[in-house]
Amino acid sequence: MLCSVSCQYADARAAVFHRQSSQTTNLKGTEMADDNLEWHAVVKASELEEQEPEHARIGDTLICVVKLDDGIFAINDVCSHEFAQLSEGFVEGEEIECPLHQATFNLKTGEATAPPADDPVETYPVKVESDQVYVGFKKQA
Ligand code: FES
Repeated sequence: MLCSVSCQYADARAAVFHRQSSQTTNLKGTEMADDNLEWHAVVKASELEEQEPEHARIGDTLICVVKLDDGIFAINDVCSHEFAQLSEGFVEGEEIECPLHQATFNLKTGEATAPPADDPVETYPVKVESDQVYVGFKKQA
């Protein structure tokens, strides 16, 4: 479940979900080139339960992976308000609630949707191949 490669992903607005074709696409339907991403295995798709967040780590980055009824989504696991892991919070609809002060974040966009958090959390592209869920980080230049 853990990936030992250290990397960072800078585009906070690239929410991507898995389609049956194993292609990746953002929510506006724009194809993303896999050439620009490094994919990291994080969890088995068959182990994910809908609305139940899972924690993963890619290098130094903590990741929260959540299966919704229309795909699997990955966001940074650290709340933008203070330090708390969102994967320990509750999912309702498309939002996850921070377990510390109850700010909420949209799992598809990373947007903070309820205070006290104002800033979004980073989102990451996701793909599934042969039951393996991968999270994409932008390649380092
Ligand atoms: S640490 Fe998440 S809302 Fe305060």
